[in-house]
Order: sequence, then structure tokens, then C-alpha cells
Amino acid sequence: MKTLAVDIGGTGTKVMVLDVEGNPLTPRDRLETPTPATPAAVLETLFQLAAGKEFDRVSVGYPGVVRSGVIQTAANLDPGWIGFELESVLTEKFMKPVRVINDADMQGLGAISGAGVELMITLGTGVGSALFVDGRLVPNLELGHHPFRKGETYEQQLGRDAYDKVGKKRWNERLERAIATLSAIFNFDTLYLGGGNAKKVELALPQQVKTVPNVAGLLGGIALWRE
Ligand code: BGC
Repeated sequence: MKTLAVDIGGTGTKVMVLDVEGNPLTPRDRLETPTPATPAAVLETLFQLAAGKEFDRVSVGYPGVVRSGVIQTAANLDPGWIGFELESVLTEKFMKPVRVINDADMQGLGAISGAGVELMITLGTGVGSALFVDGRLVPNLELGHHPFRKGETYEQQLGRDAYDKVGKKRWNERLERAIATLSAIFNFDTLYLGGGNAKKVELALPQQVKTVPNVAGLLGGIALWRE
């Protein structure tokens, strides 16, 4: 049983084939997410990445709210995604079972231990979030669009545009404040920092805060099929 794990990002779209335990069977393949990132253009990219790969089912992490396989938001992609029935379109195209969830939810599933309150924050084009209680997901937590400071949201302060604008030092200072705020709200046992910009974190992190490599976004693809 081989799973094609897909991570649709605001900047890059990544795929990898996993075995039944979630171990990689192929290297991670990546293509730039096209602009404008319409459903048709992104699906074309995804089909290019999937071509020639062998798999029996597909797991997709999508960068927005996903309810029952249908896209609800598209903060960093083309608005044409809203209402798009991604899960059924892909099921028909691949003729294989497909499951679609939020990208941060999938990333969290690839990182958590399953004990206590665990929060995943992804730092990439956007800012994603996922909350777990003893391994059970609270789906579609959207902290990224909540007010953080100076009239701006977490995503406006910590997303890729902000990083490019204010640079590594100030971005890290902002992140330190965000961690303190989130810690006071959620009282998590563990906070994971993932996404493409987690490698830019240069803070002495509290013991319950860990960075995880971006590949967790794909490795989480296997957990979607657990009973
Ligand atoms: C979206 C989230 C997503 C995050 C990271 C945000 O803009 O609203 O759903 O998880 O970006 O891709």
C-alpha cells in the first residue's frame, strides 16, 4: 500500500511516496506553485509531479480551510479555489482513494507524539496552525488570521512577505513574542514550529518548543488513513 503525499504550498508544491509505515519511498519532488494559482494550474503541476510514480492512494495537504474534501478558503492561492471539490476531483482523476485536509493539520499529524496538548505552527508563505489533544485533531484552527500585534495578524507579521521585508532578526523577535502569547493562550505541552521558514528560527527555544523539518508536511500524509 503506497501513499502519494502532496503538500500544496503558496510557493512550492511538493510530493513524496510513502510506505504503509510512513517511510519515504521516493525523494521529495518539488515544483513552484504556478501564479495565478488557480485550481486548473495547480492541478496541472500536481499531475506533473505524480507522473511516473506508483501509488495506491493520495493524501493532500491544502493551504486553507477544508471541510469534507471541499475547499473553503484560499488566502495565498487564487480565490477560484473557494468551493472547489478537490477530494472528489482528484478521486476521479487518479481513480484511487484521496483524502484532503488542511496543510498545517497534515504537518501536525506528521510531527506530534500523541500525548497532551500539542500545537503546530507552520511558518511559510502563510502561517498555519493545528491543535491536538492526546493525538486528536481540532481541524481547521486558523490562528494565522487572528490579530497578533500592531493591528496585524500572525500571518501579516510572520508570513513570508513579512520575513522578506523585516529580515531574520526582527522576524525572530516577533516569533519570540508570538510563542509567549500562544503559550499563555493554549498552555500547550508541546509546540512544534514547521514549514519552510522554520529553518530561519534562531531563538533559544523553551524546552517544550521544537522545530520540525518541512518534510513533516508530507510524512503526516500517512496518518489520514489511520482508523
Ligand atoms: C491559511 C491556512 C494555512 C496556512 C499555511 C493560511 O493563510 O489560512 O489554512 O494552513 O496559511 O499554509
